[in-house]
Amino acid sequence: MVPAVTTTGLTRRFGEFTAVQDVNLTVAPGQFFGFLGPNGAGKSTTIKMLTGLLAPTSGSIQILGLDAATNPIEVKRQIGVVPEGLALFGRLTAAEYLHFVGRMYGLDAATTAARTTELLDFMSLAGETKKLITDFSHGMQKKLALAAAVIHGPRILFLDEPFEGVDAIASGTLKAMLQGMIARGATIFLTSHVLEIVERLCTHIAIIDRGHLIANGSLEELRAGVQARNPEGNGNNQILTLEQIFLSIVGGDPAIAPPEQELSWLG
Ligand SMILES: Nc1ncnc2c1ncn2[C@@H]1O[C@H](COP(=O)(O)OP(=O)(O)OP(=O)(O)O)[C@@H](O)[C@H]1O
Ligand SMILES: [Mg+2]
Repeated sequence: MVPAVTTTGLTRRFGEFTAVQDVNLTVAPGQFFGFLGPNGAGKSTTIKMLTGLLAPTSGSIQILGLDAATNPIEVKRQIGVVPEGLALFGRLTAAEYLHFVGRMYGLDAATTAARTTELLDFMSLAGETKKLITDFSHGMQKKLALAAAVIHGPRILFLDEPFEGVDAIASGTLKAMLQGMIARGATIFLTSHVLEIVERLCTHIAIIDRGHLIANGSLEELRAGVQARNPEGNGNNQILTLEQIFLSIVGGDPAIAPPEQELSWLG
């Protein structure tokens, strides 16, 4: 089966600084893939490269078997993305924006209009008919960006922090939408610091730290790896949570003790 995403030696430098170093990653079709890492690890830089928003310094990307460098348009037809900066057009209304995006993807006017109505309703934005996007709250903008990312029915959806800033109701709706897409055969690649949600949704997880891929596998594989390295575990034979696994892998204390340090003037 052709992988949904393959990267080979993927590297991005900014001047002297290497943000992403020699990342080799394979995401199988249908996987719900969580891409984790501390702040500044290289997650957004990787997503931007995978979706054609940023050119790699070196290495290659294949999306559904297509080389992203030589088939940029065909690749973009197959994917949807909510990038870190959202990149919406502030002077449009939500409906105008979705109409624009739908038509850009080649949907006919009737299909675009029907999906726009459905998406605005789904994201609880249907009442915002007059307001310009620039006047939307952060969470409203995020929901609109999510709506725009799926209007053409992408086979792979890339989401950079989709749950950041959205309310509990929208978060529940979003989770259901993503699980529905997975059930229908789509692939989802997301970054999130909300590890409880990642643990519940994602079947496969990769961890990047300072530009290097340091873990990659199913949740069970990562858990088994951490348990094998720390046979004492957390002492009471509990199943490790993703948060504990993450902290152990990126250098935190496996026993999840909070750091000892404190700010000198706040003690
Ligand atoms: N345009 C740029 N110019 C210079 N450095 C950059 C640029 N974009 C990103 N970086 C650097 O690359 C590193 C990785 O950034 P990136 O945004 O990919 O991190 P991240 O894993 O998404 O972090 P976060 O969890 O905080 O979103 C950081 O050190 C960042 O400062
Ligand atoms: Mg980021």
